[in-house]
Amino acid sequence: MRQQQRPPRIARRTLLKAVGTAAAASGLLGGVRIRRRGRLSGQALAAELPPAARGYRPAVMQAVTLTVNGQQYTVEVDTRDTLANLLRERLHLTGTHVTCDRGECGACTVVVDGRAVYSCSVLAVQMQGKEVLTVEGLAKGDQLDPIQQAFIECDGFQCGYCTAGQIMSIKACLMRQPDPTEADIRNAVAGNICRCGAYPGIIAAGLQAAKAQRQGG
Ligand code: FES
Ligand code: FES
Repeated sequence: MRQQQRPPRIARRTLLKAVGTAAAASGLLGGVRIRRRGRLSGQALAAELPPAARGYRPAVMQAVTLTVNGQQYTVEVDTRDTLANLLRERLHLTGTHVTCDRGECGACTVVVDGRAVYSCSVLAVQMQGKEVLTVEGLAKGDQLDPIQQAFIECDGFQCGYCTAGQIMSIKACLMRQPDPTEADIRNAVAGNICRCGAYPGIIAAGLQAAKAQRQGG
């Protein structure tokens, strides 16, 4: 049987990059050449894009000042960037994982002003003046946070892909509620999917960490 030829595919990253940096040197974009002629206007660039891509608009950059793990940063971000983009691609804090990128799995959870937040589902520009805590901000040198320690001791993970998100959800819970019930911990991680099914260890780790924290561990 003859195979139908598919139209050329454009990687999302490539496309956004091209749109955001219209002055880029000439290159192929889904079979369309972007010519070097200074900064293209949005309209001119759109005209050069394949029909499927014409809905995209050039980047609008905006400075945002936020605190991440106790350190203040001022970063120019694309107003379409998510907090996850900012953390991973601009600040190189790759402990925050992105899996679904659409607010369904919880892998990207970080703590913003004391609350667990899906970093893939909030915009970086919304973080102006906020305090963000990521998994990189938990350990004090070689001393793991009690939650991290408890995850190790309670087998709270297998592949580990969901683990940073689970830990940050429990962190937000323990910041609000130092003496949680099992139901509180279950509720805290209700928005965090673990495909390995490590839930019993995760719940046990949450309770153990709370106890360790109360005892000053
Ligand atoms: S990656 Fe953010 S919720 Fe799944
Ligand atoms: S440990 Fe593998 S997805 Fe949770």
